Amino acid sequence: MVFDVSRFPDQERAILRRACIEFPDHEFSRLFADRRAGHVLYGVLRDKKRALGDIFVKAALADSAKAALRREVKAYEALGKHDFLPKYYGVLEAGDCVALLIESPQGAHWPPPWSAENVERIQKTLEVVSCSVAPELDTPISAFEGMLSGWQRLEREERLRLAEDRLQLAPGTLQRNIRHLIALSEQALQPSGELLHFDVRSDNVCFRANGAPLLLDWSWWCRGQVGNQLAAWGASLSRETNQDVWTIGLDVRPEHVALVAGYFAQYFGIPYEGASHVRPLQARQAEIAVGWLQHLGVI
Ligand SMILES: Nc1ncnc2c1ncn2[C@@H]1O[C@H](COP(=O)(O)OP(=O)(O)OP(=O)(O)O)[C@@H](O)[C@H]1O
Ligand SMILES: [Mg+2]
Repeated sequence: MVFDVSRFPDQERAILRRACIEFPDHEFSRLFADRRAGHVLYGVLRDKKRALGDIFVKAALADSAKAALRREVKAYEALGKHDFLPKYYGVLEAGDCVALLIESPQGAHWPPPWSAENVERIQKTLEVVSCSVAPELDTPISAFEGMLSGWQRLEREERLRLAEDRLQLAPGTLQRNIRHLIALSEQALQPSGELLHFDVRSDNVCFRANGAPLLLDWSWWCRGQVGNQLAAWGASLSRETNQDVWTIGLDVRPEHVALVAGYFAQYFGIPYEGASHVRPLQARQAEIAVGWLQHLGVI
């Protein structure tokens, strides 16, 4: 189906028209706006001549979404060409809107389902990413400390008891362990030079028809300990596959699991306006990460 750009509001139309002018041999074949958080517009420009290939367009209007998109653009520009990246076609600006243009891979597989082979492919790819040379990508993981201090937040906001209840832990379990959980989380945020994608989950990875993995959605890149992104990915993978997370074979230490458990657990009791489906996923991942901590004998 070809979409009629004219049915979009003015602000969005400007960037869509601009994309059509820049790529005259393409037409929008999929387009949708997520007008909840940050106001982001997504679309696929289909290559009518089958020469360059299809292009995925992600456009942002609100300042927060624009800042995230610019971080993502910085990753594409600093990393250059890599097998784990889709082709990068640059940035467009029109009116109040900024858009990222990247390859929309033909015949790609988007997990789930996950095969053991694809899990391994992502693990290997994350190792390659971790030693990528890109000096401009120098933000330490501690820059996101506010968002990653979940245990401190639960304690400060007196929601530890609520979290215990939701996690079906014996009363007092988190209270008794809170200093240890905070200390571990702080350890996980200690500097390390490895490059992290730091938002590895099914939505943000796909596999080319030949099996080669691609990492997408680079808004959260940072430098830090690789185990942190493995622990976060492990929680979502375990939720999707129903496999015990500790049997996946991810190379993580207790501090990484503690950080991730706190990150997901901090949202207990906090509503998410407009994206209510996110909270149950976070709750399930908190449960998985806390189960992992129990398996490791941390709590
Ligand atoms: N290159 C691409 N080709 C085709 N589809 C893509 C591509 N990149 C992303 N998508 C699809 O669009 C969705 C949203 O893209 P992306 O994850 O980059 O945006 P986002 O705004 O950060 O989304 P979210 O907040 O849900 O993570 C992806 O989950 C995926 O389904
Ligand atoms: Mg995404």
